[in-house]
Amino acid sequence: MKTTFRASPDVALIKYWGKKDAALRIPANGSISMVLAGLDTTTTVEFQDHLTADDIMIQGETKEIEVKRVRKHLDRIRQTFGKNGYAKVVSENNFPKGTGLSSSGSGFAALTYAAVAALGLTDVSSQQMSILGRLASGTACRCACGGFVEWTEGRDNETSYSQSIYPADHWDLVDVIAIVSRDMKKTTSTEGHALAETSPFFAARQAHINGKLSVIKEYLAAKDFTPFGELIEAEALEFHSILHTSNPSFIAWYPGTIDVMERVRMLRKNGIEAYFTINTGFNVHVLTLPQYQQQVADTLQESPFVSQLLTAKAGPKPNPVTTHLF
Ligand code: PMV
Repeated sequence: MKTTFRASPDVALIKYWGKKDAALRIPANGSISMVLAGLDTTTTVEFQDHLTADDIMIQGETKEIEVKRVRKHLDRIRQTFGKNGYAKVVSENNFPKGTGLSSSGSGFAALTYAAVAALGLTDVSSQQMSILGRLASGTACRCACGGFVEWTEGRDNETSYSQSIYPADHWDLVDVIAIVSRDMKKTTSTEGHALAETSPFFAARQAHINGKLSVIKEYLAAKDFTPFGELIEAEALEFHSILHTSNPSFIAWYPGTIDVMERVRMLRKNGIEAYFTINTGFNVHVLTLPQYQQQVADTLQESPFVSQLLTAKAGPKPNPVTTHLF
């Protein structure tokens, strides 16, 4: 059976950083995100009898490092469900990958759903989809769900998974994403997670992270944008201070990243509510409300560093599409 799924990346509001168990990708802490409608990965999977190995094409390329990771995930899925056979996989993104926009999250969420469906399995719970996603990429654990998502850190493979805490239509937030570079990240998040504990500030972060998770949930429930925005921006800076003070240290920002951060603060001085958050790439998510969207976009567009703006709202869980990629 040939199946195609579309999945969206997410933007972490309270970030996952550091792992308690690297092999199982059990995170050091829980995290909360918003899945991003408008940005997506589309993946078609078909198990074909004549294949002697998985045949994988991502964004028109067969890069060894990506192909290996996809094969490993297909092995995991085959093993979990006791299935055999090799698959043809074609995957396309409509946004830049490897630049801090969680393309591995949407990629592995789409692959998990498409491969499970291609195997004819119809009774796999969303909890198991999230667990499978997590084993391939931490963010895929959240991208297997829709809307506003909480990943509970858990203790082991069975207890570390994500759930939607609000559907996409709970809150009409807008994420204006400023693309300042399409360069691939210099330090991958897998490398970065392993360095988290070398920062002297990591223990301080761990000491108050559960408090932050509770507070953001209160703001989300009440749709209280000002403290919500202040918290996610402070969280992004705290997260980056861990990167800056890891050993070896790394700085994910480009001059354009800082220019966008300054513009967001200038917008606020002018009464336009907008707050930034940044993952391990250079590109900046700017969260705002619909009434400010145009002014935010205009101000970011004026930056000489911004080559493109993408706009997203809270989006759905991975869903099947009828047009296949091959
Ligand atoms: O899923 P990974 O290994 O790419 O880690 C993602 C880490 C951050 O994007 C920085 C934070 C997060 O929670 O998404």
